Amino acid sequence: MLSCRICRGRLHEFMDFGQQPLSSGLLDPEYLGDEFFFRLAVGVCGDCTMVQLTEEVPRHLMFNSHYPYLSSGSSVMRRHFEATAQHFLETELDGKDSFLVELGCNDGVMLRTVAEAGVRHLGVEPSQSVADLAHRQGIRVITEFFQESTATDIRKAEGHAQVIFAANTICHIPYLDSIFKGVDALLAPDGVFVFEDPYLADIVDLAAFDQIYDEHYYFFSVSSVSAMAERFGFELVDVERLPVHGGEVRYTIARAGRRTPAPAVAELLSRERERGLSELANLQGFVGRVERARDELVSLLRTLRADGRTVVGYGATAKSATVANYCGIGPDLVSFISDTTPNKQGRLTPGSHIPVRSRGEFENPFPDYAVLFAWNHAEEIIAKEQQFRDSGGKWILYVPDVRVV
Ligand code: SAM
Ligand code: TMP
Ligand code: ZN
Repeated sequence: MLSCRICRGRLHEFMDFGQQPLSSGLLDPEYLGDEFFFRLAVGVCGDCTMVQLTEEVPRHLMFNSHYPYLSSGSSVMRRHFEATAQHFLETELDGKDSFLVELGCNDGVMLRTVAEAGVRHLGVEPSQSVADLAHRQGIRVITEFFQESTATDIRKAEGHAQVIFAANTICHIPYLDSIFKGVDALLAPDGVFVFEDPYLADIVDLAAFDQIYDEHYYFFSVSSVSAMAERFGFELVDVERLPVHGGEVRYTIARAGRRTPAPAVAELLSRERERGLSELANLQGFVGRVERARDELVSLLRTLRADGRTVVGYGATAKSATVANYCGIGPDLVSFISDTTPNKQGRLTPGSHIPVRSRGEFENPFPDYAVLFAWNHAEEIIAKEQQFRDSGGKWILYVPDVRVV
């Protein structure tokens, strides 16, 4: 029997993507040896409603000195995190000697603003590749996995934090018991633990099956996060829906009884209950939509290639690993993927072995079609790639359904 990683309740598996590689495990073309594969499957807990993977990939295989993802690659995300930092500076961090700790600070996209304001901060970032980039900008960062022991060390050396923040990181961490113990050790009595991650309701509504990959271990909802917070002695006191990365929620958690919960918590919770968001039957419905999207996408790509059209990909996202490997899309259907990340260029995508090339190659010449694997940045990308459209190029999207625009 599968059991929930949070509460040990019974886990009901509802989707199986089969064997999948490490989503950020891009390969050097000269090294095409063994790749790591694991079974990517998702289940929902019948007790606490947490949606989660059924298998855990060892963390050092994903987050290490080769981790390529750069948070600052999107101008929309840079603005989003500037505004986030500004919000903390004006609210929680207005006391003297305030201290903010960020888990998974990546290249410093958020902490930059905090550092520039001269506010005490610390990034905890296990991936050396990106932690170095933050450090080089004068941001204080330690290259560690956050867990209970890290938190205790930080508290001893630096005192309590008023804010512990994490974006697109908490859902990456299976061992949340240790994270909450760490937060308990490090957070000031009236401090807040704030994290934002893809929202289960948006994933289901958009049939965004590519949000499911090794690094995304949990798919949070207000219901599951609220139960988890309570379990670890905390309370969910605010929620805010965010338009980034295809739809996220920012959860604000405080020690139980320290803050009055905002009405938004009960509102979103009742909307989730009304629609039966975490009910197995509804989640099983998601599977049918995903299978249809897969079949339509593959058939569209095959037809285009048979008609002699040129087709490339745009954005060698971690999400695209699930799309390519689950749909069976290789270099025969998508010749290469254009991506601005230096550490992805010149490599091959995991499992599917599609070459990743620089943005320059995208316009040399523009292809007939481009599969927008970075669909979560669609507005930004489509606006800046107007020339592709002007040249007659068309975008292929597969979320929420397969279409050519
Ligand atoms: N916060 C950035 C953002 O929103 O763009 C980065 C998100 S990135 C998808 C996830 C980050 O979490 C990676 O940089 C990874 O190294 C980091 N990470 C993974 N496990 C962690 C842990 N236990 N403690 C702190 N950071 C962790
Ligand atoms: P993400 O969806 O996980 O944020 O990843 C976005 C990927 O797409 C990342 O590898 C960078 C790439 N990218 C581009 O190549 N051009 C762009 O304009 C943007 C915003 C992202
Ligand atoms: Zn559970």
